[in-house]
Amino acid sequence: MEKKFKRTTVTSALPYANGPVHIGHLAGVYIPADIYVRYLRLKKEDVLFIGGSDEHGVPITLRAKKEGVNPQEIVDHYHKLIKDSFKEFGISFDVYGRTTSKTHQELASGFFRKLYDKGVFVEKTSEQYYDEEAHQFLADRYITGECPYCHSQGAYGDQCEKCGSSLSPEELINPKSAISGSKPVKRTTTHWYLPLDKYEPWLSKWILEEHKEWRPNVYGQCKSWIDMGLKPRAVSRDLDWGIPVPVEGAEGKVLYVWFDAPLGYISNTKELLPDSWEKWWKDPETRLIHFIGKDNIVFHCIVFPTMLKAEGSYILPDNVPANEFLNLEGNKISTSRNWAVWLNEYLVDFPGKQDVLRYVLTANAPETKDNDFTWKDFQARNNNELVAIYGNFVNRAVVLTQKYFDLKVPELGELTELDKQAFEDFKDIKTKVENLLDVFKFRDAQKEAMNLARIGNKYLTDTEPWKVAKTDMNRVGTILNISLQLAANLAIVFEPFLPFSSAKLRKMLNMESFDWTELGRRNLLETGHLLNTPELLFEKIEDEAVEAQVQKLLNEKKKNEETNYRANQIKETVTYEDFTKMDIRVGKILECQKVPKTDKLLQFKIDDGLEKRTIVSGIAKYYKPEELIGKQVCFVANLAPRKLKGIVSEGMILSAENNDGNLAVIMPEREVKPGSEVK
Ligand code: MF3
Ligand code: ZN
Repeated sequence: MEKKFKRTTVTSALPYANGPVHIGHLAGVYIPADIYVRYLRLKKEDVLFIGGSDEHGVPITLRAKKEGVNPQEIVDHYHKLIKDSFKEFGISFDVYGRTTSKTHQELASGFFRKLYDKGVFVEKTSEQYYDEEAHQFLADRYITGECPYCHSQGAYGDQCEKCGSSLSPEELINPKSAISGSKPVKRTTTHWYLPLDKYEPWLSKWILEEHKEWRPNVYGQCKSWIDMGLKPRAVSRDLDWGIPVPVEGAEGKVLYVWFDAPLGYISNTKELLPDSWEKWWKDPETRLIHFIGKDNIVFHCIVFPTMLKAEGSYILPDNVPANEFLNLEGNKISTSRNWAVWLNEYLVDFPGKQDVLRYVLTANAPETKDNDFTWKDFQARNNNELVAIYGNFVNRAVVLTQKYFDLKVPELGELTELDKQAFEDFKDIKTKVENLLDVFKFRDAQKEAMNLARIGNKYLTDTEPWKVAKTDMNRVGTILNISLQLAANLAIVFEPFLPFSSAKLRKMLNMESFDWTELGRRNLLETGHLLNTPELLFEKIEDEAVEAQVQKLLNEKKKNEETNYRANQIKETVTYEDFTKMDIRVGKILECQKVPKTDKLLQFKIDDGLEKRTIVSGIAKYYKPEELIGKQVCFVANLAPRKLKGIVSEGMILSAENNDGNLAVIMPEREVKPGSEVK
């Protein structure tokens, strides 16, 4: 039997206040959360929607350092920007707080202290990386180096963004301080750890046995964390930005950002409801739902619940509907590479089109797997679905009512088979949409809503009232009555998804009040009810508008290639002796041909001044054999022979690699004798 709840607390991940929010945030977390909350409100359920900014953590301090300002200035700026963007997109938070608030500082500090006093934490002294130039310990993103798994450069002390592995600073190869660039040394420091290992039996039972209904991606990630064995996690850091650890002798230490941030959900509730916040967090009849992206799963399913459990007086999440990631035009969204669609910029480029983005992001929501946002698809969904189906149907219904009935809802006459079918088609809309929303299938739910518009559009096309008008006005009245009832149903069913358009449509239909429970009814508008003059719900988006967006991204890509090229790091220093070990010489190309069955390799015969040697080189994509015959090139003469496609290659021809990956063979500026040394 389904448990009955009195109220629902809905949280959405607190974004870091170190940059604007982009479509990935919106698609992954805030739109689904907002749809869900609007839906519960429409059903008159008791619900609270909590949001806020995450204002601590290393990325914020690094950004402040880079800009030469105080972290507080950074978070003040972005907190406001993010809050405004959410408001513009209709994300209907009951409260949007911040983790630098006094309420939060006190609550988080008190929470830590309670666990400390209960003896929950394990205190441990260990060696950690320390930057002797900057005089500080290097936790998490303060330290970078080579990833031990995928060997890409620039992995962080807590995570490799290339391959997604979660890391600890000790694992990095050639670690470097992100502050001074210097090589860190080890120093001892003391921290408090949350002993997740001790809670493992409980976590395993609570998640793996009692929450089998969680989304497969969420359940699966939890299972793999638990199967790998949970380790104690440090909940303090040596930093000067954050909430001080409320323990004597802990000067210079603050709460780990992932300890304080989720507590922000609670303190933001308290900020809004100083006297009644507890029932939203402590009453077993309250249901708690966390909306997050997949990179936050471990914190919301394992770490935070363990904190709540250890404290003892809180409820635990009932569900954590985490989404996968949204990519942009085939590439991972990246803040540092500016590969994103920023909400504040979208609002400038597409004013008044918040619902279009809401629609497209839900239609493509990465609910079960990563998904891709493309501007072409954005345009197609707007033009072919919102404009051509939903907007077109509503517009035709209202304009025809204006034309033939002075904007008054006409009378319903005798029903034909087509009419009965139309009623039949939409009478179950409420159950269909509810069944999907109840299990967080927002994409499919929105599809059902759109189907209703499809039904209406088809109904008008099939019944052709503009033709019937020549002969039978009563019949036209019936057709328009049915169409307007459908339009009224659309205004209700789309309200959680496209709130701005629903408001517009309600105004057009002059529906002051509307009620979710009436969804599916065939008499939402009474005969004689006066409509307002029609307005277009959606407008076509032209090619130029989306082409401009694609161009903007291409420009970013180009800039990135250039910076990557510059950032291509100089390798470790070698001595002059090391250098002289390499025997680089000039040779003359005598013969050159493609290596059969490969598209990369060319085979050369080279006059090296003493004899002819064979060299195989991967430059077939950049040169035709005849372009190179007779040319002088540089090659490494003492490279150990290697077999390539069955051919022994005795050396390597040197080329320069352009930032676009193209290769250009190095040639001496003047003809020299074959065999001349390059030094
Ligand atoms: N700031 C985190 C992020 O962007 C999310 C924090 S969610 C909360 O990944 F639980 F800490 F609130
Ligand atoms: Zn990696």
